Amino acid sequence: KPIVLSGCQPSGQLTIGNYMGALKQWVAMQQDYDCLYMLVDLHAITVRQEAKALHEATLDGLALYLACGIDPQQSTLFIQSQVPEHAQLAWVLNCYTQMGELNRMTQFKDKSARNINNINAGLYTYPILMAADILLYQADQVPVGDDQKQHLELARDVATRFNNIYGPSFQIPEPYIPEFGARIMSLQDPTKKMSKSDDNPNNFVGLLEEPKKISKKIKKAVTDSDEQARIYFDPQEKAGVSNLLTLLSGATGKSIAELVPDYEGKMYGHLKTDVADAVVALLEPIQTRFRELRNDRAELDRVMKEGADKASERAAITLKKVYEAVGFIPRP
Ligand code: AQP
Repeated sequence: KPIVLSGCQPSGQLTIGNYMGALKQWVAMQQDYDCLYMLVDLHAITVRQEAKALHEATLDGLALYLACGIDPQQSTLFIQSQVPEHAQLAWVLNCYTQMGELNRMTQFKDKSARNINNINAGLYTYPILMAADILLYQADQVPVGDDQKQHLELARDVATRFNNIYGPSFQIPEPYIPEFGARIMSLQDPTKKMSKSDDNPNNFVGLLEEPKKISKKIKKAVTDSDEQARIYFDPQEKAGVSNLLTLLSGATGKSIAELVPDYEGKMYGHLKTDVADAVVALLEPIQTRFRELRNDRAELDRVMKEGADKASERAAITLKKVYEAVGFIPRP
């Protein structure tokens, strides 16, 4: 089976965007791929996190992965910081990446513009850690959104460079574009992506929010001032309405083409009510399962330990190969 690796940052509460753009696809891939799914807490600290909040968000994220259907028997599910090989390989790869390559990363430019008080070196070298995450497991495919394509390209370049110097060491990863991938936009500003760390909580739907609150946020979502209030899919001209249709499609499993005719002659309010009901219906069973898991720390510990052991065992093989290649002496 092809090896697939992906992760979310526990930098806040996972959103319906993380669900539709990532978790839902990950669950569907478990049958046909050898999947590794992580919570990337090492990445999360590139932006300042409050320690307690990071701790809780990581446990929440783990319980949510499970509640959404990630099966730790079938996939390898782990917390990044519990597998030290990530940081170890990242250091080596730091020394095989040029500053010029990092200078070209547009996400660093965006993120540093937003975090002017904390433009730390980790934010700058983050793509190298991401390369280590991928290359450690010899991943064949990496599900990536548009914003991560450049980072995957860097991982490929660094892997190719290392292989050229030392002989075959890393599999060169390919991007994986999911068939039904959905990009969910901010509810109040549908021209930008929904983000869990958005300052305005009305912009996102957290997977753990109360149903009433979720409903309220969706009903307040920005649409447009088209006088005829027509409902159709056009992310350029009708960004808000199109986002609602994407959410409805993701929550009901019906295609957008199937959904649109139902709204002929109807008002935006109808659409919003249906989206709110569908999202709540989708999340209610996930939240119930989440609460059971989240209250069972022993079970979460068991999952974390098993996942970290499984991941470490695989990661250690690559790290050993790399250490030997560069000339490090194995600890006697
Ligand atoms: N709005 C979205 N629509 C579709 N997919 C999304 N993903 C995130 N937001 C959306 C996908 O979720 C996975 C994990 O993302 P992440 O948590 O590592 O980081 P991110 O993409 O930076 O997500 P956020 O919510 O915007 O995090 P913050 O605010 O902390 O930076 C990825 O597969 C991503 O594509």
